[in-house]
This record gives sequence, C-alpha cells and structure tokens, in this order.
Amino acid sequence: MGRERMINGSGCSLVLVVLILSFVFVESIQVDTKYENGVKTDVFLSPKVELEPGLVSNKNYYNIDFPRGHIGIKQFYAELVDEAGNSVPLHETYIHHYVIVKYYQRKGVEEINNRRDLGFEEPDVIVGKNSGICEQGLVQYFGLGSETRRTDSHIPDPYGIEVGNPVDTPLGYEERWMLIVHAIDTRYVVDKIQCTECRCDLYNVTVNEYGKPLTDGYIGGLACCYDGMRCRLKEGVHGGKRNLFLRYTVKYLEWDASILPVKIYIIDVTDTWKWLNQSAGLSSSHHCLVEYSVQPSSAENDLGCVDAKKLSVRFPVSGDVIYSVGHQHAAGHGLTLSHEDGREICSSIPIYGEGEEAGNEAGYVVGMSSCYPQPGSVKIAEGEMLTLFSNYSCTKGHPGVMGFVYLLIADSNSQSGSLAVHEKVLVPKAILGVAIFGIAVMVVIAVVIQKRNKAEDGYESIHM
Ligand SMILES: *[C@@H]1O[C@H](CO)[C@@H](O)[C@H](O)[C@H]1NC(C)=O
Ligand SMILES: *[C@@H]1O[C@H](CO)[C@@H](O)[C@H](O)[C@H]1NC(C)=O
Ligand SMILES: *[C@@H]1O[C@H](CO)[C@@H](O)[C@H](O)[C@H]1NC(C)=O
Repeated sequence: MGRERMINGSGCSLVLVVLILSFVFVESIQVDTKYENGVKTDVFLSPKVELEPGLVSNKNYYNIDFPRGHIGIKQFYAELVDEAGNSVPLHETYIHHYVIVKYYQRKGVEEINNRRDLGFEEPDVIVGKNSGICEQGLVQYFGLGSETRRTDSHIPDPYGIEVGNPVDTPLGYEERWMLIVHAIDTRYVVDKIQCTECRCDLYNVTVNEYGKPLTDGYIGGLACCYDGMRCRLKEGVHGGKRNLFLRYTVKYLEWDASILPVKIYIIDVTDTWKWLNQSAGLSSSHHCLVEYSVQPSSAENDLGCVDAKKLSVRFPVSGDVIYSVGHQHAAGHGLTLSHEDGREICSSIPIYGEGEEAGNEAGYVVGMSSCYPQPGSVKIAEGEMLTLFSNYSCTKGHPGVMGFVYLLIADSNSQSGSLAVHEKVLVPKAILGVAIFGIAVMVVIAVVIQKRNKAEDGYESIHM
C-alpha cells in the first residue's frame, strides 16, 4: 500500500474530542476509474486496516485519495473488502461506521503531528463541516455503518454535492479529505452482537480512551470500543491477523451551471439544542450526543415494546428535500421525520439481513430505506419545528444506539417546483445501493459524560 508513516499522538482535544488515539498517514490508492455519459467513477482503496479476532480498529486516515477539482458528487459508496478484493461479511468484521470529513490544510504544512490539530481550531487544519445542524460531531460529508451495502443514496439529476470550489477554500489552504474507519473483528468472540454493541464488560473496559473512568451506569457504546480494544474471545483462540480495506467509490461530474447544489444536513435525535435568544430571532445552539441507550421495558403494544425517542428541533434554513435517509443500529424499527404540522417528510426503515453472505447477514442492519421526494414537493420553511422519532425495540436494553437522519436540501428558488407527491423508495434487496453520509463520531466524549441509567442485563437477539 505504498509508503506508510505512523504518527502517534498524545494528549486530548477538548474542542473536538475526537475518538482517535492513532493517527495514520498512509496513502490510499486509486484502483479504477471509469467515464460514462460525463459521469466519472473513481474507485479507491483505503490504507490497510489491520485486524485480528476481537480487535477494534478506529483510526483517522488523513489526506486520502479523492477526486480533485471543482466537482459535483453524485454518489459515494463504500464497503470493507479483504486483500483479494472480496466483500467481508458483517459477522466477520462489523463496520460500526466509516466517516469522510472534508478539511482544509495549510499549504506547506504537511503533517498533522499535534493532537491539538484535531480540535481543528488550530490554524494548520480547518474542518470543512457539512451544513449543520449539529455544531460538534456529525460534521462529515459521507459515511455509514453496517447498512452501507444496501442503502441507496445516489443523488438524482440535476443535483450534486459541490466540492472543490476554489472560492470556498480559505486562502493559503488546500482542500483535503479524512477517513475514519471503525471496524470490529468479531471472529471467535464470545458474542458477536454484544461485541458490536460495544458492551464495556466484554471489552473489559473501565476507563475511556483518555484514561477517564466511565460514567456510572455506562454499560456500552463508543467509549468502550476505541482503537486497540479487544472484545472477549472464546477460549483457546490465537492468531488470525488479517488486513482489510475500505473500498470507496465516488461518482461525480465536473462542476457546471446545470448542476443544482444540495447541502448536507444531519438531524440527531439526541440533539440537546436550545434557543440562544428567541426574542432576537432564530439563533440556537446544538449539542448532539450521537449515542443514547434504550432501556428495557415491559410495556408492550402490538409491535412489542417500542422505545420512541423524540426530538423537536428548529430547522435553520428553508429549502426542498431532495433526499433523506436515517441511521440506526440493530433493534431499530425506523426513524420518522415530520413537518411542524405533522405531515411526514421521510420514514427510513432498517433492512435486516436473512442469510450469510455479505450484504444479507442475518440479524444485522444491512440497509436503510431512503426517501427521494419529487423535487419541489417537500419544502421545509426557515425556522420550522421538525419532529424526529427514532424507534427501537425495547424488549431488551440496547446501549450505544444511534438515531439520526441526513437531509439533502436544495435552494427552492433554483428549480421548477412540481407538486407531485413524494415517493418513498425502498431499496430492492438485489440492489447494492450506493451510500452517502454517515455516522459520525467526531465528537463523542459527550456521550461518555452523559449520565446513564442502571445497567440492563438482558439482551435480545437482533433477529427482527
Ligand atoms: C480485565 O482488566 C483487569 C484490570 O485491568 C485485569 O486484571 C484482567 O486480567 C482483565 N481481564 C481480561 C479477561 O482481560
Ligand atoms: C435578545 O434579543 C433582544 C432583541 O434583539 C434584545 O433586546 C435582548 O437584549 C436580547 N437578550 C439577550 C439576553 O441577549
Ligand atoms: C415511531 O414512533 C412514532 C411514535 O409512536 C410514530 O409516529 C412513527 O410512525 C414511528 N416511526 C417508525 C418508522 O416506526
């Protein structure tokens, strides 16, 4: 995989609380390129992700290979593959998430050799966040988790995500991309599902990656499966090192005036937002915890026990919804985003696998349904209070779950608004869709700090 250079960091950024102990500067490589009807498709391999049974790898890879120039991105897709290029099933290596973050690097400064740079407040590196609405965390452009193989997220014509516009790059900086891959090798572990839920007891973790004791009642989540941690193995297992890669595919067009730009927004059900000064207008501050925990309950309806976590949040801008998709973990029943008046904007439902092969692993979330409203038919007003539900099964407890949605928003003025009813698109099983966005985890200490309720002890199978 070409030249490699490890730079070990130490210390901690309070600003961005990034989940990283190891910084890896390794070159990703481009393995393929195609050109069809003006759309270019570039395929890349990440630096190698070194795993062995039970091991967690969660590393940042800076300055990864990515299409250059002023372009409109039409699709981003990624999956884990082995050295032979074969798809690796989730029951061997669980991809908790990958995240692609845009940043600007000061020209002439080649290394990120200072932990404080991760705060991205330092002048050498500036994060090019998505458009909101979380202020810290969930800043990525692309990234998903186990659902990546069957989540459709192509961007319909004439829209595209604009990147590489020199006007957006601060003077003296250049645009770059960072990749985070959080993968858990679950071969030979005592309980694959509980290892993917990052249960602290199975990782024998009592302090977070910065050496701070876990909060009382924190029984699972990202604070317990950071880089280098290992989930408990069955007796007598040794060896089994392997190298995997994130193979990522970017489809894009050279930018031109016919492409209508869409902006990326993320709404997280754990957002603990507040008005800054309501009387002065709409300004508000957002603090997204990213993770939360579902408590077991005996309450049931005909769907069984459903934990419906609700957020009402003010959306800062107006525009047309072009695309939306949610992210949940196993045991998720789906997310619903609605207008202030109760009309539904999008419901995104997990697709559970039923077999063995990659893309159809039984018990795992192998896809999320996405929404492609007829452009112009679903408008959000500036300052509108949106409601987001994230529903999970609560017959058993589930630590470290997530519930957030991505929205691609276009400026309403930039298009011919048709008023057709929007359609929900469920990805057919056979289509391994292309994925965008993701799960984020730039900031998660908040989660660690967050008070948790008492530990649950039962677990349910994630077969839904
Ligand atoms: C778990 O951690 C404790 C304390 O750090 C250590 O004594 C013990 O051997 C560990 N157990 C396993 C199974 O790694
Ligand atoms: C809030 O905004 C109003 C109107 O601009 C202003 O009069 C008031 O002083 C502000 N309050 C605070 C606490 O900033
Ligand atoms: C989630 O629960 C809420 C409240 O019960 C319900 O209105 C919504 O339809 C549910 N959404 C999904 C996708 O299950």
